[in-house]
Amino acid sequence: MEARTVPGMLHHVEVYCADLARTTEFWGWFLGKLGYVLYQEWPSGLSYRLGQTYLVFVQAETRFSDRSYHRCRPGLNHLAFHAASRFQVDEMTDLLRERGLHILYEDRHPHAGGPGTYAVYFEDPDRMKVELIAPETSTPETATVGEHRPTTDARMAIVEAAVEKELACSAHDLAHVRRVAGLCRHLAENVPEVDLEVLDLASVLHDIARIREDTDDSGNTDHAAMGAEMASGILQSAGYPEQTARHVCACIATHRFRGTTAPETIEAKLLFDADKLDSLGAVGIARAYMLAARYGEELYSGEDPDTYVARNHIGGTPTGRIKALSAHTPNLEFEIAFKRIPDRLFTQQARTLAVRRLAVMQAFFDQLKQELGGAS
Ligand SMILES: [Fe+2]
Ligand SMILES: [Fe+2]
Repeated sequence: MEARTVPGMLHHVEVYCADLARTTEFWGWFLGKLGYVLYQEWPSGLSYRLGQTYLVFVQAETRFSDRSYHRCRPGLNHLAFHAASRFQVDEMTDLLRERGLHILYEDRHPHAGGPGTYAVYFEDPDRMKVELIAPETSTPETATVGEHRPTTDARMAIVEAAVEKELACSAHDLAHVRRVAGLCRHLAENVPEVDLEVLDLASVLHDIARIREDTDDSGNTDHAAMGAEMASGILQSAGYPEQTARHVCACIATHRFRGTTAPETIEAKLLFDADKLDSLGAVGIARAYMLAARYGEELYSGEDPDTYVARNHIGGTPTGRIKALSAHTPNLEFEIAFKRIPDRLFTQQARTLAVRRLAVMQAFFDQLKQELGGAS
């Protein structure tokens, strides 16, 4: 499931501004609400990205500041953004008012664009017009003007659509997310105090930043931390309460095996356990080889795991990042990481399942070694 580009679609827009600090304060806030994340940053500019499109803001040089921007002059008049729903337009309107921003065409709001449209118009710090417009289709949340708040299903559909758009890695695709959601529900069966809404949302959103980590050659992106940040914007856009969004984001931030912050709530612990279980057993073998194909790994390595870790893991420790992915193999991952999983899990039920799944993997790698060595 690639995050697709469509030939001809907008790649990026670059805007020169009078005061970068003021512009950043406004656009960082607004775009964050729409799910954009900081993409690039340098002394005189920065950009925010959502999917395959990004917006760049650059400090204009003082020698060009004699003439300020005016949207009625030839040039750009306004930027318009898709809202998830009419509810999001209403919510944004309230937030803009809270920030003391002027709503344009107040007398015709929210239909200033015409009777069939539902949008809010406002200005950025340089008075460029900005529009946030609801979809035209009659989705449940937009069908009736009076019913602005999306239903639970409609909110989840918004979240799932955002996840689907982002996930592009074969081993961390929507199928992985759905298996993790199923495992979460299974583990939660005997835990009555679990907030199932939080658990479902956390499982669906937990790997949303995975591809961003995988494609960041600097190695500085942590998909758990970035995923929590992205999820916050998506959940707000979908209309979830602040408290729910905060809880879900905390679960996402602590779900990673090599992470340094431990899960605190029962929902975070169940997500952690379910996510690790999906890397074990027959599914785990299949996923490990999906990744192996992607990174050009060999089928098997006979190298001693400790020697390998010292050579190919940053810091020479099992938890350090892998230096050369093509030098890794599924059986090394099994020896170095997967075998440690049961000790790291939080629930007894997950530990029992993990031990069972590890036995399947051990038998597979033993057989593979024999076959590769010429034995049947
Ligand atoms: Fe993850
Ligand atoms: Fe995951």
